[in-house]
Amino acid sequence: MPAIVLVGAQWGDEGKGKVTDLLGSSVDYCVRYQGGNNAGHTVVVDGESYAVHLLPSGAITPGCVPVIGNGVVVDPAVLLDEISMLEGRGVSCTSLLISANAHLIAPYNTVIDKVTERFLGHNRIGTTGRGIGPTYADKVNRLGIRVQDLFDPGILRQKVEGALLQKNNLLVKAYNRRAIGVDEIVDGFLRYVDPLRGYVTDTSAVLNTALDGGKVVLLEGAQATMLDVDHGTYPFVTSSNPTAGGACIGAGIGPTRIDKVIGVLKAYTTRVGAGPFPSELFDADGEHLRKVGGEYGVTTGRARRCGWFDAVIARYATRVNAFTDYFLTKLDVLSGFERVPVCVGYDVDGTRYDEMPMTQTDFHHARPIYEYLDGWWEDISGCRSFEDLPKAAQAYVKALEELIGAPVAGIGVGPGRDEVIALRPLL
Ligand code: GDP
Ligand code: IMO
Ligand code: MG
Repeated sequence: MPAIVLVGAQWGDEGKGKVTDLLGSSVDYCVRYQGGNNAGHTVVVDGESYAVHLLPSGAITPGCVPVIGNGVVVDPAVLLDEISMLEGRGVSCTSLLISANAHLIAPYNTVIDKVTERFLGHNRIGTTGRGIGPTYADKVNRLGIRVQDLFDPGILRQKVEGALLQKNNLLVKAYNRRAIGVDEIVDGFLRYVDPLRGYVTDTSAVLNTALDGGKVVLLEGAQATMLDVDHGTYPFVTSSNPTAGGACIGAGIGPTRIDKVIGVLKAYTTRVGAGPFPSELFDADGEHLRKVGGEYGVTTGRARRCGWFDAVIARYATRVNAFTDYFLTKLDVLSGFERVPVCVGYDVDGTRYDEMPMTQTDFHHARPIYEYLDGWWEDISGCRSFEDLPKAAQAYVKALEELIGAPVAGIGVGPGRDEVIALRPLL
C-alpha cells in the first residue's frame, strides 16, 4: 500500500482535519510533516468537536498511529497540553511517535516572532505568534535545538548558549527587550525530557518499514499551498513547505513511495493574516460566508478573510502538487445566494491572466474576473448523493471540476463525519 499526501489547496482551513478523519479508519499511520502549532484542525465526531494544533488529525482515530515527522517544529508545552486534553476526553495518545530530528520551538523564538511582527508595523505578516518562523530560520541557520538534544544535557546547554549569543543581541540591541538566561531555557527544556522520552524515535525508519509491510501512511499537510514558503504568496506565507514535495522531506520517505495526492479545497476562499487575496469580499456577502461558514481561526480566534472561489489558485495548486483527487468542502455554506461568482482569471493592469502571474507585483495588482453561476436556496446538509443536490449545486461542482482540471472525489456538506457525499473512492 502506498503513501498518500493530503494538502490544502488554498490559504489553509480548507477542512483538512475533517478529510483526514474520513480516511481515518483505513489509515495505519497519520503523519504531520511540517509546520507546528500554528495549525488548527477541527474534527467533529458524533457531535463532539476536537481541535488539534500540533498532533495530526489522525490522532483522534482509534488504531491510527499519530506521527510528528522531522519537518515539524515542536513546542513541547503545547504538545503535552494537547496530549492531556485528548487523553482527558478518552482519546489515547500512547502510540504517538515523535521524530528525534524535529526541531523544538524555544521560548526566545516565540518572543522574537511577536516582537518582530510589532516592529514590522503595517508590513507585518500577521503570523500566529507561535515562534514558527524564527524556529525554521534557526534550523536553516544551523542554530536550532532538536528533540534529540533533550537527551544530551551537555549538547543541549552548548546549543542554547550558541543560540542565545545571537538572540540576546537581537532582543536587547534591536528590540530593547530583556536578555534571556541560558539556565532559564535549559532548565525549561529539561522538564520535558521524562514526559517526552517514550514517544521519541527514528520516525523515518518506522514509516519506511511500515510502507514495506503494506501499511497505509497518510501524510497530512498543515497550512496550505498558498502559504508555502516557496510556492505561496511570499513573504505572506508560513516558513515551511506544505506542498506535496515537502511531505518527502518532512517525513523522511522517498518520492516514489507516494501514489496519491489529495487536494482539499473549500467551495469558496478564506485567508488569515496579511497578504494578497484577489477574490476577497468586503461586503455583506463576505460577512455571510464568515457567519454561515463559522470562519474564525481555530488557533488565534481571528476572523478569517472571506471571498469567492478562485479557479486560478486551484489550477496553480493542481500544478505544484500534482493532485490526483480533490475533496471539496463546505459546499453547504454556499446555499442562499442568487448567483455564485467564481473567479476564472485575473485582470492585471489591463492584461488578462488565466494562470498565476509570475511576479508578486502582478499578483498584488490582480483583479478577479468572475463568471456567475446560478445559486440555490435549499439546505443541502442532508444530501448524501450527488443526485440529492439541487441542480444548481451539481452544476457548480461540475463547473469547478472543469475549471481546475482534476476530479472531485468527495463533497463536504457539513462539519460532521457523516456530512459528506462520496463520489469516488479516495483510497
Ligand atoms: P483545517 O485547518 O484545514 O483542518 O480546517 P479548520 O478545522 O481550521 O477549518 C475548517 C472548519 O470547517 C472546521 O470548523 C470544520 O469543522 C468545518 N468543516 C469542514 N468541512 C465542512 C463542510 O463540508 N461543511 C461545513 N459547514 N463545515 C465544514
Ligand atoms: P491550518 O493548518 C490558516 C498563516 C498566518 C500568517 C502566516 C504565517 O489550520 O490550515 P506563521 O505563524 O505560520 O508564521 O504565520 O500563515 N497561517 C495559517 N492560516 N491556517 C493555518 O493552518 C495557518 N498557519 C499559519 O495567519 O498569515
Ligand atoms: Mg485550520
